Amino acid sequence: MSATTTTENAKTSHITLPVPAAKHALKLDGNDPAYGDWRDDLVRDGYAVIKGAVPRERADSYADAMYSWLEGFNLGFKRDDPTSIHKDKLPWIDQKGMCLQYAVTHEDFAWAIRSEPGVVEAFEKVYDDKDLIVSFDAINFGFPNRKDLPENKPWPHQDQDPLKPGFRCLQGLVNMLPNGPDDGGLIVCHGGHMLSEEFHREFINEERIPAWTPEWFGFTDAGMKWLEEKGCQWEKVCAEPGDLLVWDSRTPHYNLSSKTQQPRFCVYTCFMPVSDASQEDLLRKRDAFERWVGTTHWPNARHTGSNVGKRDGEDDPHNRFEPVNKPSLDERAFKLTGIPYIKA
Ligand SMILES: [Fe+2]
Repeated sequence: MSATTTTENAKTSHITLPVPAAKHALKLDGNDPAYGDWRDDLVRDGYAVIKGAVPRERADSYADAMYSWLEGFNLGFKRDDPTSIHKDKLPWIDQKGMCLQYAVTHEDFAWAIRSEPGVVEAFEKVYDDKDLIVSFDAINFGFPNRKDLPENKPWPHQDQDPLKPGFRCLQGLVNMLPNGPDDGGLIVCHGGHMLSEEFHREFINEERIPAWTPEWFGFTDAGMKWLEEKGCQWEKVCAEPGDLLVWDSRTPHYNLSSKTQQPRFCVYTCFMPVSDASQEDLLRKRDAFERWVGTTHWPNARHTGSNVGKRDGEDDPHNRFEPVNKPSLDERAFKLTGIPYIKA
């Protein structure tokens, strides 16, 4: 596929859209009405699975594209050969399955997944807002039996600054391969979102686990014990290809490696109302889009990434600075970049 006129025009011109305020966004504070769908799960449990957000046929084609992208480095990885799962035969993917560089977050499959109607509509429902922006977040290629990488140790955390309480951000991932209880993937602390404020009041003086951003809080052993004493259970979230998993940023979570032979692929998709982003945020986000670099899960691009991947401490000779298959963005997808909301 090649870049479309829409994508190219993104770099040169745009129209400015009005930014209306959200009206009936979920609050996740115990006072939301019942909806009779997955939103009730989200409110109660701090996470939810939206079954079939991406139709199975398209999910399978995206998984195929993701495999092809890995094979396209021509380093020796072949999807049907488990012995080829090795860091020397793959782009750099860390022990958590995260792939952050190589412009992967702007490959056509990543943009096609994050602009799938069933994905976008889920976030529109939560925020009661159609004017949303999306993160340019990591892609997860989790392979089993990675003896060539350090152990994937649990890092239970919240992706939200404890000093900014309340529901602020809904995170998401679109699952691309069958993902059962032992196949690795997202594990969440059931109901932990509702205990967040109480927890941080009690642990306000605890020495923090170092973090590169205040929008991340790591749980110590004492914190984990507190959650356990409150009766919180940790649950591995299972899913089929095409299912969208969403969770409140306050819900403690991390990811597990596969104990089976099943790889785990997913694309992180986090949306927020553009009304929550400043013009400066949008300019930074446009710059990230134009340079094909990533962001964190926060769609307002407070932190932007780099495509300079390292391999054994050196710049990876296989680094890429633009997607192999540039995205083809329709009008809806282009709005998700935030660019149309930049005031001229
Ligand atoms: Fe996280």
